[in-house]
Amino acid sequence: KRVAILISGGGSNMVSLVQDMTGDHPARPVLVCANNPDAGGLAKARQLHIPTFAVDHKSYGKDRQGFEAALQAALQKARPDIICLAGFMRILSAEFVAAWEGRMLNIHPSLLPKYKGLNTHARALEAGDAVHGCTVHEVTADLDDGPILGQARLPVRPDDTAASLAARLLPLEHQLYPQVLRRFAAGDRRQVTLGA
Ligand code: GRF
Repeated sequence: KRVAILISGGGSNMVSLVQDMTGDHPARPVLVCANNPDAGGLAKARQLHIPTFAVDHKSYGKDRQGFEAALQAALQKARPDIICLAGFMRILSAEFVAAWEGRMLNIHPSLLPKYKGLNTHARALEAGDAVHGCTVHEVTADLDDGPILGQARLPVRPDDTAASLAARLLPLEHQLYPQVLRRFAAGDRRQVTLGA
């Protein structure tokens, strides 16, 4: 299976996915794509010898359609079987998602269905949750809403801040996403459950 990974920032989740796709893994990375040319993850992808593509969403202004057409063109050339959104911070239109429905995954830093959208760690702290975590799900037209493929949990500490919680959660994301992708690429839809 051919995997394209979409990033916006440092790409630590992308690195975890790429480093796991070796040996008998049913998938291989074929493209890392960023919505901004300065994404730190692009340099990491180059170091990992993965083809990269950057489409600067800022150069399209309000023209979301133009941005997505450029993204779609790059993806069509790479012919991925699976797209992994990994720290990808753009909302994709229903049309774009429909073109990849059933083949696009995302990692979200909350225990969905709780805390869709942004600022998930602060919202979990605000709510006084004892447990927080991350979720890998299939992407559908509704934001952070598709079928859940895996979750990782961790206890919230009394002295946690949004930053400390995010920092403790990131390594769990790096464990969860590769395990979910292995199953998904092998056609195994059993959920992955990690942690507390
Ligand atoms: C992480 O906080 C992750 O939860 C979210 O995007 C952030 C950056 O991820 N999905 P990465 O280091 O760019 O993979």
